Amino acid sequence: MSVHEHVVVVGSTMMDMVAYTSKIPQAGETVSGDSFALGFGGKGANQAVMARRLGATVSMINTLGDDLFGDSTLANFQEEGIDTSGISRAHGASGVAPIWVEPDGSNRIICVAGANDAMTPAGAISALEHLENYQIVIGQLEIPQEVTIAAFKKAKDFGAITILNPAPFALISPDLISVSDWIIPNESEFAEMHSQGLGPTSDKNILEISATLKARFVVTLGEKGAAFTTRDGEIRRVAAPQVKAIDTTGAGDAFVGAFAVGLAAHLSDEKAIALGCACASESVTRKGTQSSYSTPAQAQEILRSID
Ligand code: RIB
Repeated sequence: MSVHEHVVVVGSTMMDMVAYTSKIPQAGETVSGDSFALGFGGKGANQAVMARRLGATVSMINTLGDDLFGDSTLANFQEEGIDTSGISRAHGASGVAPIWVEPDGSNRIICVAGANDAMTPAGAISALEHLENYQIVIGQLEIPQEVTIAAFKKAKDFGAITILNPAPFALISPDLISVSDWIIPNESEFAEMHSQGLGPTSDKNILEISATLKARFVVTLGEKGAAFTTRDGEIRRVAAPQVKAIDTTGAGDAFVGAFAVGLAAHLSDEKAIALGCACASESVTRKGTQSSYSTPAQAQEILRSID
């Protein structure tokens, strides 16, 4: 199957600075790392790249700084074939993300938002007004929530489906929840929603949350796949292909970008989630964030195998 659908990401860009280390330092301690890589990241950008590699038309809405990282991030989007008409520049630094990855593939990330915080609701609306025929708009929590709220409202007026990836976890504005059709946390983000009166991951809690917030939920469960709420108010689980993880950074973003393409391509919800699991599992077998994602040829082969 070839995909001609259009996915818009209103979200973040970061320059990932990844240190691979067998030992995480304690406070006041210095350790020697094993290797280092600089790569393109940011949850929004990663989701855009995954969607694009699957063959969708993808538009990115973001603000980059006026620094070298901003220049190279813009060039990266252009090389990927992503529409950058919604990207503006602000004075100052682009977003950066120092990341530590341990030998079991687990990661620790600090995001410094930089120019991502200069995004405005008016800018996002104006960028969306210049786009045509998009079916899906994705957002995360690495840009100001009022920007995502404005963009999702506009998208819903246009008739698009909205997907919120509540990462990294923060208290989510009720206004944002009310304009989110799908909410896709991982297990720890789901558990943290407890502070908004919700509870840790279980079928019962996922169903309750979905009913209370009037949004469909997909909870990503790492190597265990994902659990989602069906239209009929049931929970279904989708298994992930079993692989050996060497770096899990960006796997959740691969899931979200691929799921969005699956929905845009009118796959069933279950198949769209299976596509997300397959692309995420592939990504953990390679180092880096966007650099770990399947090539367009590999990604489109995965899409064909799911369809
Ligand atoms: O989800 C992984 C991403 O989180 C990294 O690319 C990093 O930039 C942070 O946004």
